[in-house]
This record gives sequence, C-alpha cells and structure tokens, in this order.
Amino acid sequence: MLYRERMRREYGSVRLCGMSQSMDAGTREDLPDDPAELSALLNDYSWHHQIDLGGGIVTPGRDRSEHKLRSLRLPSLAGKSVLDIGAWDGFFSFAAERLGASRVVALDSVIWQKVSKAPFELARGVLGSEVEDIELDVLDISPHSVGQFDVVLFLGVLYHMRDPMAALEAVSSVTKELLVVETLSDMNFTARPAAAFYPGSYLAGDHSNWWAPNPAALVGMLTEFGFDRVEVVNRPGPLTRLYRVGRNLANVLHSRVSAARTSLPLSYAVTDRIIVHAHR
Ligand SMILES: C[S@@+](CC[C@H](N)C(=O)[O-])C[C@H]1O[C@@H](n2cnc3c(N)ncnc32)[C@H](O)[C@@H]1O
Repeated sequence: MLYRERMRREYGSVRLCGMSQSMDAGTREDLPDDPAELSALLNDYSWHHQIDLGGGIVTPGRDRSEHKLRSLRLPSLAGKSVLDIGAWDGFFSFAAERLGASRVVALDSVIWQKVSKAPFELARGVLGSEVEDIELDVLDISPHSVGQFDVVLFLGVLYHMRDPMAALEAVSSVTKELLVVETLSDMNFTARPAAAFYPGSYLAGDHSNWWAPNPAALVGMLTEFGFDRVEVVNRPGPLTRLYRVGRNLANVLHSRVSAARTSLPLSYAVTDRIIVHAHR
C-alpha cells in the first residue's frame, strides 16, 4: 500500500487533497479577509480539529475538540509554558495560548512530515497566533532537544507508540509541573495493571496502534517516572461504563456491516478513553 494511503487510513480523518495540502499557508498577509473566501479556502484542506477561527468560522474537522478540551480538566494555564506533543492541526496549542499560557510549543512529526503541516500553519496565520512549532519524533524529546515546560500535553499519542515506556520517559523528562496524558485504554475489567497489545493491523486495520493500558497500568508507568501524584481525572461510574460498552458494541457491529469500514474486533467493546494528570 502506498505510504500516503496508509497514513490516510491510519489517521482516519485525513483526506489528502493534492496541491493545497503542501502549499505554504503560514503568512497572514496571504490569507483572505473575506469570511466567505476564508471558508472556501478551509475546504481545500483536510482537518482533524474543530478550531474556532473567529467570525463564526470553525475548521471542519471531525474531532470534538472543544468537548475534549473540557474533559481534560486543565488547571489555569496563565503564565505557564506549555508543550503540546502530537499537535496535528494545533487545536490544543491554540487553546493553551487563549487560556493565557506565556509560551506554547506545538510538536509533531508523522502528520506534519508525511501528510501536511499546512492546516496547522493556516490556523496559526488566521488566529495571529504566536505558537511555536518543532518537528520532532516523541522518542527524540529531551530537555536538551526541546527544553522543559510547566505543562505538557500528550493527547491521543500514547497508543501510537511502539515503546510506551520509552515515550513516557521522554515526555516526563521535559515536564516541570504537570503532564496530561489522554489515551485509549483497554483491559478495563481487571484491577491489575495491564495493557492490550495490538499486533499488525489488529485494531481497525491501523498499523500505528500498538498498546492501550488500563488506568492502573498508566498510573503505575507514570509513577515510575518520578511523579509525586498521578490521578485519573475521568473515572466513569458503572452506568457510564455500561453505556460506553453498548456504544462501542454498536460501533463494532457497524464496522462489520459497512463496506466502507475495516472491521473492529469484538474486544473493542471494552475499550475507553482515559485522562491522567501526573504532578511533580
Ligand atoms: C490521534 S492524533 C492526536 C492529535 C491531538 N493531540 C488530539 O488529541 O486531537 C496523533 C498525533 O500524534 C502524532 N504522532 C504520532 N506518532 C508520533 C511520533 N512518533 N512523534 C511525534 N508525533 C507523533 C501524529 O502525527 C498525530 O498528529
């Protein structure tokens, strides 16, 4: 399979749109002032995030970005330095800036290098944002390569890591106060620390999914890296868990009857999303 086609499948919402994906979208002067023209321009790009660009214009990603932001339960970011690892279109970087962070760095490699960085640059230009950017692999993150940050966001990236311990060690090394990890969780019906391994294309035909820990495993891993207090901030009650299993089962069934989708394994029904705050 062609690499770009594989990336498109692995990062489901990525549509490859030819020329417009590789154009330089960085300078504000190049951008249309007319909202109708800007809206039309946005449709030339593939978006993951829904970024409010002002004037009623929101980038047409399918990620429920504002909802996710609320569920992260971030503390005040006023005056903090923030590193957003796996920034993609930059929603969380721009949000951190809006929430008063003194310095924000967006970091990514796969999507920016193999698909396109243009949506991030376009949004940054329209917002007049001062978010900085670094193209780097997670495993190359260190105090030497990127410096250290008060708050580090590691959202939706851990399950793409073939070596999750090495990845968490790298992101922990640049965290001064708070590391926020959001990830897929699995093995949720055992209290023992455990992680599910997804060989090959096991999970949704996506070769970039490797591991999903349960809460006890993720808390344990982060504790290994010297955080004083590690807390799960979105523990669902029994009814919510039941609802999510039902919703996931419906998703599994839909994936099996829809010709356009790759079948999900039945075990997907017991997966969830987990958000952890690790404090120094
Ligand atoms: C599922 S997306 C999550 C995007 C965003 N953080 C969010 O929560 O909406 C995963 C992101 O991690 C990035 N990524 C995956 N592997 C990476 C790696 N080894 N180094 C740096 N970024 C990586 C991808 O390029 C992509 O932008």
